[in-house]
Amino acid sequence: MNKTFSFDKDLNINRLGYGAMQLPGKGVWGPSSDPDNAVKVITTAIDNGVNFIDTADAYGPFYSNLYVKEALKQRQDANVMVATKVGNTRQGPDLWTPVGTPAYLRQQVELNMMTLGLDHIDLLQLHRVDPNYTLEEQVGELAKMQQEGKIKHIGLSQVSVDEIKAAEKIAPIVSVQNRYNLIDRTDEDVLDYAEANHLAFIPWFPLATGELAQGKELQDIAAKYDAQPAQIALAWLLKRSDVILPIPGTSSTDHVVQNIKAQNIELSQADFDILDKLGK
Ligand SMILES: NC(=O)c1ccc[n+]([C@@H]2O[C@H](COP(=O)([O-])OP(=O)(O)OC[C@H]3O[C@@H](n4cnc5c(N)ncnc54)[C@H](OP(=O)(O)O)[C@@H]3O)[C@@H](O)[C@H]2O)c1
Repeated sequence: MNKTFSFDKDLNINRLGYGAMQLPGKGVWGPSSDPDNAVKVITTAIDNGVNFIDTADAYGPFYSNLYVKEALKQRQDANVMVATKVGNTRQGPDLWTPVGTPAYLRQQVELNMMTLGLDHIDLLQLHRVDPNYTLEEQVGELAKMQQEGKIKHIGLSQVSVDEIKAAEKIAPIVSVQNRYNLIDRTDEDVLDYAEANHLAFIPWFPLATGELAQGKELQDIAAKYDAQPAQIALAWLLKRSDVILPIPGTSSTDHVVQNIKAQNIELSQADFDILDKLGK
């Protein structure tokens, strides 16, 4: 099992990353009730070896980016790759609406750079494909910004294999971020495509929004490794494929440390196979 993944010769990251969506207020809306803690969760992740952080303009909106910006300011020597997203708008707590007009996508890339304090984005993911605009308009606008040096790599989120193939005709695609975890394997075909083509596969809801952390089915195996169920769910993802980059989300410094330690758990093939049967 490789512990690292290379996007290019300069961007070689530890596969176990961190997702910042749990940091803003309830419903991913508004500021954190404890902004200092939000920043501390990110610096704790970095201090424990995370150098791949996933965020989005839509988280807050922008609050998660501001916490990432402050954490990066406090850890200037850390070489952290930030992946962000554009293309999802917000109307209130838990409300999300895709918007893919090229002028809007361009604006949001600029606002991501501004709120993250970065002069370019290492990985810019199209959060959702908006059916009201062509892929050419949406990915094409990101490709223009890549030519301008504002985006290094382009990724997609919540897409089918056919959509990836169509996007690859417009611009090089390096990653796909779809919902996937031990018990939700709807997008196995997308993972297989990513693996065959060396695209990073970034599973969102890697802990099934915390359900797997409670996971009664995982308790027995967790006990064998002197581990917590959440760690076993992450260890399963890491063993499933070397292109998987889990980004567990948490607002707890204890949980962030616990999650990162999952990279040290090497599941036996027999335990992997038992866990594999839990998938639907
Ligand atoms: N592309 C997309 O459309 C999309 C959609 C959703 C999410 N995402 C990305 O994927 C990331 C991960 O998804 P997610 O955060 O929604 O879900 P998740 O990682 O599956 O689960 C997060 C939940 O698990 C709990 N948790 C985390 N570590 C734990 C541990 N060690 N023990 C017990 N509970 C634990 C957290 O609570 P505590 O805060 O109490 O730890 C939180 O409630 C997000 O942060 C975001 O970056 C992307």
